[in-house]
Amino acid sequence: MGGKVTVVGAGFYGSTTALRLAEYDVFDTVVLTDILEGKPEGLALDMNQSRSIEGFETKIIGATTTPEGAGYEATAHSDVVIITAGLPRKPGMSRMDLIGVNAGIVRGVAENIAKHSPNAVIIVVSNPLDEMTSLAQIATGFPKNRVMGQAGMLDTARFTNFVAEKLAVKVGVVKTLTLGSHGETMVPVPSRCTVNGRALSELLSQSQIDELVDRTRNGGAEVVALLKTGSAYYAPSAAAARMAKAVIEGSGEVMPVCAWVDGEYGISGVYLGVEAKIGRNGVEKVVESALTQSELAALKGAAEAVRAKQADVQTL
Ligand code: LAC
Repeated sequence: MGGKVTVVGAGFYGSTTALRLAEYDVFDTVVLTDILEGKPEGLALDMNQSRSIEGFETKIIGATTTPEGAGYEATAHSDVVIITAGLPRKPGMSRMDLIGVNAGIVRGVAENIAKHSPNAVIIVVSNPLDEMTSLAQIATGFPKNRVMGQAGMLDTARFTNFVAEKLAVKVGVVKTLTLGSHGETMVPVPSRCTVNGRALSELLSQSQIDELVDRTRNGGAEVVALLKTGSAYYAPSAAAARMAKAVIEGSGEVMPVCAWVDGEYGISGVYLGVEAKIGRNGVEKVVESALTQSELAALKGAAEAVRAKQADVQTL
């Protein structure tokens, strides 16, 4: 296949994403960076030593970087860049509590990435997600379709897992969808949730569905509370890595992602969780689907909530 992907941030989220990408064996090179000297190099060395066991040829390169931009040469001409840089939540924190500190980090990273990889597709995973995605677009100056955020893949995967567990069925027969923000205004779309093709509402009561939706909305916080340090990374990294794979393969898969919405659903000028066709240019198209009136009203509510926060972020 070929191509180069950079993962910025060698914490658990970044390093797990880098390993998943390498194991897909679709990129020539995975670059993993961090500001902690030696950490990305050490992890890359370790991952490369697993290649003959796992049977993949992708080369992992670790590079220490500085906020001023040293070390970013290693990332040059990346096709895809995943930004995981920033602090994770501590127990009791909301994603929004991270906005001030992470805005500075994400802005700096995005500027450095843009200098070295002017044609990359950027996938942001730093929190608060919708706001950091918007900020990365502003800081890179890239076309909006080339900057997107990872959230919907993760939220739907959590919802799907909870539904499968509740009904004791395989995850493979469950389809769920969440739109909106990665946070308080996450919008479940019950009309698109099915089990073996049957509407979820035929299998669970409204209160049971509401309970699973609530658990999904708090899915990240539930993991943070258990871990006590750090936040989730296995499911989040799977989601981010799949998005990067869809980009490099130009797969045209439709995925729930945080994308720039410009007219779809009667909503304009905001980064929001919607379904989008993912290809070589990032978001090839926001895919609008039929929503019930209440689902559409909730999506519009989410758009206004994140719009206000995204306006704040420009000055951070
Ligand atoms: C979560 C964080 C990564 O939802 O946003 O787990």
